[in-house]
Amino acid sequence: MVVDIQREPSQASTKSEFMGFANFPNQVFRRCIKNGFHFTIMVVGQSGLGKSTFTNSLFLSEVYDVKPHQMPIPSTVKIDSKTVCLVENDVKLYMTFVDTPGFGDAVDNSNCWDPIINFVDQRFADYLAEETKIERPENIADNRVHLCFYFIAPTGHGLKELDIEFMKALQDRVNIVPIIAKADTLTHQEMLTFKQNILKDLDTHEIRIYKFPDQEGTIVGIKNAPTKCEDNRKRIPFAVVGSNKVIDIGSKRTRVREYPWGTVEVENLAHNDFLALRDIVIRSNLVDLINVTRDIHYENFRYKQMCKGAKGNLERDPFTQLEEERRTVEKEAAEVRRTKEKIFAEKVADREHKLADRGKALDEQEKENRRILHEKHGMLQKSLEELSEFRRAAGINDSGSSIGHI
Ligand code: GTP
Repeated sequence: MVVDIQREPSQASTKSEFMGFANFPNQVFRRCIKNGFHFTIMVVGQSGLGKSTFTNSLFLSEVYDVKPHQMPIPSTVKIDSKTVCLVENDVKLYMTFVDTPGFGDAVDNSNCWDPIINFVDQRFADYLAEETKIERPENIADNRVHLCFYFIAPTGHGLKELDIEFMKALQDRVNIVPIIAKADTLTHQEMLTFKQNILKDLDTHEIRIYKFPDQEGTIVGIKNAPTKCEDNRKRIPFAVVGSNKVIDIGSKRTRVREYPWGTVEVENLAHNDFLALRDIVIRSNLVDLINVTRDIHYENFRYKQMCKGAKGNLERDPFTQLEEERRTVEKEAAEVRRTKEKIFAEKVADREHKLADRGKALDEQEKENRRILHEKHGMLQKSLEELSEFRRAAGINDSGSSIGHI
């Protein structure tokens, strides 16, 4: 049970009574200022739909060079990424843009999203590898893909097979926000019908795009601005116009597309949804996109890795892995000890055996020597007896003198 104790300002008026937890938001704020935010946006869509122009317009900077295409379009999907640091009121945003040139440009586009899936998964895998290190860094660089702007060609009909297949393949890995490119090419009525068709197609094919949370939000000081996020959400899928041309309208610098019959303003909600999109994504939901990536898409990936079992490298938690490594080392050490003891015992037995043999040989030798000695002793004894006999016969006494002749 949680008991709600309201601390009145008067109660906490003296320094000793003030606990200080009211300062938490400031601590969080200071930390955010210090660390900044890391955010990765991926732009996917067929060549020439205005992805680079849109990215430049979104961050009011020349992230990409938009030049007329002289180079051949790659026949396979390439992945290019670029990181820029944007600073606004001391808040740093490390923004990584991932471009996917070549997507959907081949004659046969089956599985052309595979390199994109691999890229997203690899970013998750890198993060997981860092996270499961025994000595992991204090701040793990978050290079996971937080948002994918998927550009739909302004055909006026509905989603194409490629759009459906791509979004289905990526929907469980990344937050997808579909965008209708080159909104200035459709009339107001055509755009309404096109949006309805797209929403119907998304529903029919059960495609899950990023769900913007319900929250209050306003675009401060901008003409024709909607007053709530709810109004912005009604514009999904956002139809945008991008431009690299900046002119001064009154005191304001504005991106425009100029035609012989008139001017389309990028930051004008009567002309397109660019402002609503920028507001709902960058101003209102950047942190939510990071959280959804971390809590849903990354967790999905992590879970799948854990379930892979023995096939993956990361199937066990580090403590189990350590324990197993310790047991293996102990087992190996015991094995080495046993082998050494066995060798030692064998050597001792061999030495004992050799010593026993040598002792036996010495005994034999001694016996033989005794026998020879005994034999020689016998022979000597016999010679002495013969000598005594001879002396007696010759009349010689033991001192050597002849008996009876002196
Ligand atoms: P790739 O780099 O080949 O993938 O192309 P991209 O999708 O990045 O398109 P890019 O931004 O290079 O724009 C292609 C052409 O479309 C350029 O001539 C742009 O000026 C033009 N363009 C960009 N945005 C719009 C738009 O909103 N409306 C119209 N009508 N043209 C646009």
